[in-house]
Amino acid sequence: MSGRKVGFVPTMGALHEGHASLLRIAAQQSDAVVLSIYVNPTQFGPGEDFEKYPRTWESDLEIARREGVAAVFAPDRAFYPEGYRTVVTVPGWKDQWEGEIRPGHFDGVTTVVAKLFLSTQCDVAVFGQKDAQQALLLRRIVRDLDFGLKLVVAPIVREADGLALSSRNRYLTPEQRRRSLALSRALMASVMAWESGERETSKLLAAGRSVLQADAPDSVDYFSLLDPETMGCLDDVPTLDKPALLVTAARYGATRLIDNAAMGNIWE
Ligand code: PAJ
Repeated sequence: MSGRKVGFVPTMGALHEGHASLLRIAAQQSDAVVLSIYVNPTQFGPGEDFEKYPRTWESDLEIARREGVAAVFAPDRAFYPEGYRTVVTVPGWKDQWEGEIRPGHFDGVTTVVAKLFLSTQCDVAVFGQKDAQQALLLRRIVRDLDFGLKLVVAPIVREADGLALSSRNRYLTPEQRRRSLALSRALMASVMAWESGERETSKLLAAGRSVLQADAPDSVDYFSLLDPETMGCLDDVPTLDKPALLVTAARYGATRLIDNAAMGNIWE
């Protein structure tokens, strides 16, 4: 597409309004939008939901058409040819937070996205803050490997009651769906404390954790503050004197949900 700016939105399909919002942002920042749909096997661990990950090709294309997407890139198994070995990795960062719980996940993400960047030759790529750690790792590889593209991080699209849209929400039972609201409410409680001037880390975390415990998930993997520049944990730093990212992951039965909220502007 010579002379035209290509905007790119990588996805694994099962598109919802969150993905649609990324397509609209990409359209604003480019002349033609490419959408990729690829359920990338290398970012799923053993026992994760690769096999049962929702595949909704027809309705995905419907959304692509509605949003004026210029091209849909849907690689097949040949994307990883016989003998494939190369990995794009961010040492240290890939094993923290989500990476600690899902070993190998981020190597799968950074590698496939690098391949997608090279395939599409895009000028702008849009990712959701929904997967904030993913966005931070991808920002790192774009800077480190000189991809020469602009990486945009878009706000989280939520249901009216606050639950962040996710293709995995469909696995929740009505009772789990009701309890899942505690996640966004807990994040909001901490952010409201931060917005009203609180900077003591223990108090910021306590504000959210008490909300989370009041309607507790089946288990909480983490509810923590991290430094978006180093990916380090800020929970034990007495005072928050720079922008931070509050991240959480919790399980409802077999369904694992993640959510996050920024304290300050972490994306510029
Ligand atoms: P997927 O889970 O399909 O998400 C594709 C993009 O949509 C990601 O950038 C994600 O952060 C964004 N997204 C998901 N839910 C959102 C919401 N509620 N609001 C705003 N944006 C949202 O993330 C992946 O796929 C894969 O790891 C991928 C980057 C495609 C690599 O395989």
